[in-house]
Amino acid sequence: MKATIATLPGDGVGQEILPAAINVLEAIAKRFGHSFEFVPAIVGGAAIDATGQPLPEETLNIAKCCDSVLLGAVGGPKWEGLDYSIRPERALLGLRKELGMYGNLRPAKLFPMLADASTIKLEVLKDLDLLVVRELTGGIYFGEPRGIQTTETGKRGINTEVYTTEEIVRVARIAFEAAQKRNQHVTSVDKANVLESSELWRSVIIEVHKDYSDVRLDHMYVDNCAMQLIRNPRQFDVIVTTNLFGDILSDEAAMLTGSIGMLPSASLGDKHAMYEPVHGSAPDIAGRDIANPIAMIASSVMMLTHSFHLDAEAQAIDAGIYKALEQGYRTKDLESPSCITVGTKEMSGHIVAAILTS
Ligand code: IPM
Ligand code: MG
Repeated sequence: MKATIATLPGDGVGQEILPAAINVLEAIAKRFGHSFEFVPAIVGGAAIDATGQPLPEETLNIAKCCDSVLLGAVGGPKWEGLDYSIRPERALLGLRKELGMYGNLRPAKLFPMLADASTIKLEVLKDLDLLVVRELTGGIYFGEPRGIQTTETGKRGINTEVYTTEEIVRVARIAFEAAQKRNQHVTSVDKANVLESSELWRSVIIEVHKDYSDVRLDHMYVDNCAMQLIRNPRQFDVIVTTNLFGDILSDEAAMLTGSIGMLPSASLGDKHAMYEPVHGSAPDIAGRDIANPIAMIASSVMMLTHSFHLDAEAQAIDAGIYKALEQGYRTKDLESPSCITVGTKEMSGHIVAAILTS
């Protein structure tokens, strides 16, 4: 097949891990006879430096015109003093909103050879495989009114958690359909004991569930879910939740697997899709060839599956990641005395080699 892929490395380690993923995709193209055209564009702090805007019009157009988007990471201390409206993070939110990508899939799966890298006991984690489905274009991230007001007694900061029925229905369908392909279990996470927006969330989820009678549904308050993820994470299959709760719970779920440097994500809409690691730009380790490229490479696996339906190709990359880890190669975040510590380039090189020789 032929496909165009917008490549937006962004900032920090994004500049190192995205090229690593491109190398892997080129190996796949070679082995399976596909043609991937990579269309680079600037985003985040890199775009602020070049144009003054975190998400230039040209970048947005490239993202819209390509068949898929791969994004590294955005942000860094250099741009932290800027006004919220032009911070690197706005680019991410802008891409999500403009491309209508309302459903965010964040799988957390434990590689058995990395079990000892987690801070949680092995017996709690064994065979962990869960998926957080995070609503991505609504809730408190986008709700109005927002802002900082000046009042007679001082300042007042405002953000608004708001969900419409339609926004809940569409992300619920993504979660139920994902569960049908997994272990047929959805846990909807809300704060319905306190928030009206959660009360609506819960009632809409119950309504949509009627179309998915093969899936078991239960509900959990977010504070309890945060605890249950640590106490017994294997009780979960698919967690569906709001934008803010999903942001928090997906970082927590990521850490169960040992390193946030392992976890990919897919942001899906009706017309567009974007794939990026769950971790950020990690400015403290950027530019030193030590970042773990696996989350980015695994994000391109999600792209092959969800955007291009190339299942054998996706499996070939997964097998390559597995083999490199099994051979004992680890980046610094997963360093261990019994393993061989390698850099970003070398890690992706081992994955490429596994793909081309299997
Ligand atoms: C994420 C990140 C972003 C978010 C930030 C960088 C805006 O934390 O993708 O989880 O909060 O959505
Ligand atoms: Mg986050």
